[in-house]
Amino acid sequence: MNASTFRVVRVALAATIAAVAALVAALVLGGAVTEKIIPGLGDAGALTRWGLPFSRLVMDLAAALTVGALIAAAALLPVTGAGGSGRPSLSAPALGYLRGASWLAALWAAAAAANLVFTVSDVLGQPVGDIVTGSELSSYVGQLPQGTALMMVVLITVVVALLSRTTTTPAAAFGLLALAIIALLPAPLTGHSASAANHSVAVTGVALHVGAVAPWVGGLAILAAHALAGRDRLGVMAARFSRMALWCYVIVGASGLVNVIARLPDPAQLVDTDYGRLALGKIIAFALLGWFGWWHRERTLPRIEARETRAFARFASVEAAVMAATMGLAVALARTAPPAPAEVESTVKSLIGYDLPPKVNPARLATLWQFDFFFAALVLVLGFVYVAGVLRLRRRGDSWPMGRTAAWFVGLLTIVAVTETGVATYAPILFSVHMVQHMVLSMLTPIFLVVGAPVTLALRALKPAKVRGDRGPREWLTALLHSRYVSFVAHPGIATVIFVASTFTLYFTPLFESAMRNHLGHIAMMVHFLVSGSLFYWVLIGIDPAPHKLPYPGRLILLFVTMPFHAFFGIALMNLGAPLARAWYTAVHPDWGTPILQDQHTGGAIAWGFGEIPTFIVLIFLAFQWFFDDQRRARREDRQADRAAARGERSAAGDELAAYNERLARLAKREEEQAE
Ligand code: HEM
Repeated sequence: MNASTFRVVRVALAATIAAVAALVAALVLGGAVTEKIIPGLGDAGALTRWGLPFSRLVMDLAAALTVGALIAAAALLPVTGAGGSGRPSLSAPALGYLRGASWLAALWAAAAAANLVFTVSDVLGQPVGDIVTGSELSSYVGQLPQGTALMMVVLITVVVALLSRTTTTPAAAFGLLALAIIALLPAPLTGHSASAANHSVAVTGVALHVGAVAPWVGGLAILAAHALAGRDRLGVMAARFSRMALWCYVIVGASGLVNVIARLPDPAQLVDTDYGRLALGKIIAFALLGWFGWWHRERTLPRIEARETRAFARFASVEAAVMAATMGLAVALARTAPPAPAEVESTVKSLIGYDLPPKVNPARLATLWQFDFFFAALVLVLGFVYVAGVLRLRRRGDSWPMGRTAAWFVGLLTIVAVTETGVATYAPILFSVHMVQHMVLSMLTPIFLVVGAPVTLALRALKPAKVRGDRGPREWLTALLHSRYVSFVAHPGIATVIFVASTFTLYFTPLFESAMRNHLGHIAMMVHFLVSGSLFYWVLIGIDPAPHKLPYPGRLILLFVTMPFHAFFGIALMNLGAPLARAWYTAVHPDWGTPILQDQHTGGAIAWGFGEIPTFIVLIFLAFQWFFDDQRRARREDRQADRAAARGERSAAGDELAAYNERLARLAKREEEQAE
């Protein structure tokens, strides 16, 4: 073993010891490993009590390291070479991290499999030996939500482990990174968040939390190893990581606090309960990690520039150990029972996360606020990033049309109007209100968002990569725009089919009921409305560069061919003989509500009538765009003709003009002759 490998192993060992020590201390103090005798159930035994959190810790650490290694390969290290096909390929160090990710993903899969066995043993109250030798494992895996979730993790991580061995391009490495991030979610989402009092906020909170923890913790660990091993390009990697880490830090803190508030409604519970005290420990660790980040920015990053990498390596190693200890604390927290709610929840509250609101009326639709963490965060980020782009252009002395900024913010406002107000409160219980949400998100919001031209703004505001041939955010965006995937989905025919067919597929299959029952499924449905609508309107009236531009008459035809399908959809709903998602709407039906089927007929009428509004707005837009495009083209041709005339040449436009003038002169002459 050479000296640099020895340094990496020593630090990895120290971080593992820190994680295990924090886990053991927190498990003992929080009481999560004391034997509990639940009447009617046997005791699963000490192996399960300890094996469950330990396998989870290995899972969480391996997950973070896999994500970190994939990020290092796909985004932190510069892309330098071009493969045999001429396409960009990963550099040798990046390929090394990718192969490392393969082993780490295999460890992640093994730990998830072990966690699966311990989970079944824990739920059934039977020792691991009985579970493994009997038929319980195979028969309970599919029945327990945690079992299904862990099976999904094993499957996805095995795919990541196998593909990481053969992948060679940056785009494919990004695909693997996306897969790994998906694999982070199932396990924590079937923990306390699924049963928290305010479960919709808790589910979004945990998803954002683990989605930001892994790149941050894993990215720093890989960076520390890179520095300890004395490898090249540390400066570029550290600068890129630092920008990403700031975003992760903000998301981890905000989502962590939201998670705690969702489980501990009374702040006194932070010190009165085991769960609260462990959460407090994490808040302190979080503050300490914030200080580490600040110190890096102020002190160690400038020293890397001056090629003094030792200080960074030492400091990042200590930081990685603190992060690992916090992961230990996190696992103990997830194993510690939060305090039970003061009163027993009603069935409706356990389904929608709050008690049934009073009878619906327009004032309540506008004023009953309902906090949706996911969409609040989305709107804030989209608004902030857009303003940052415009300000960067302004500082450079470039202008950006006010109309586009206004359109972008009107679009964001419409999202707030249907996801954070009374519309969001009533949407889960009344199909008619859900339909308002759907129509706005898929047919109104996207019009304003595409007119805001976010891609054009990003292409102008983002700086090109410093290293030639490398991919920074700007190059990634351009690569995505030119990719076969975008070219396929942005084809007018495909975008229209996605826009129209997905509506029918969602509502007339069991998919709709599943999306209403599962909070993440519900978010996915709403995001799909937004994305499919944006894709369609991008093709129709988009200002941003697109792979296929339709001529204006073609766009008009597309608009008039598509809109009737929405009318058909509305009419189909108005003629429903039996309610959609009957079990869901029966379970949440309010006393004051109209019969479920009648409410769904109203929803159909809303879908039918609403189509006219976007059609009208799009027609106005198209008319303006067509007119201004013609004007621009005419001005361009005039300029070309003038330039050609100045050079004494004859251009096509100049020829046309000369012929036209000649014709006028001939007509005038003939009129004169006739008059004589
Ligand atoms: C403001 C600071 C933080 C707060 C308030 C907080 C709070 C929470 C809460 C309430 C959970 C859900 C536990 C459950 O299911 O009952 C959680 C999960 C988690 N947290 Fe944090 N956290 C914070 C910072 C951090 C940091 C700095 C890290 C890592 C360095 C971290 C890593 C994790 C992980 C990995 C999980 C998922 C554990 C699992 O289910 O296996 N958290 N956090």
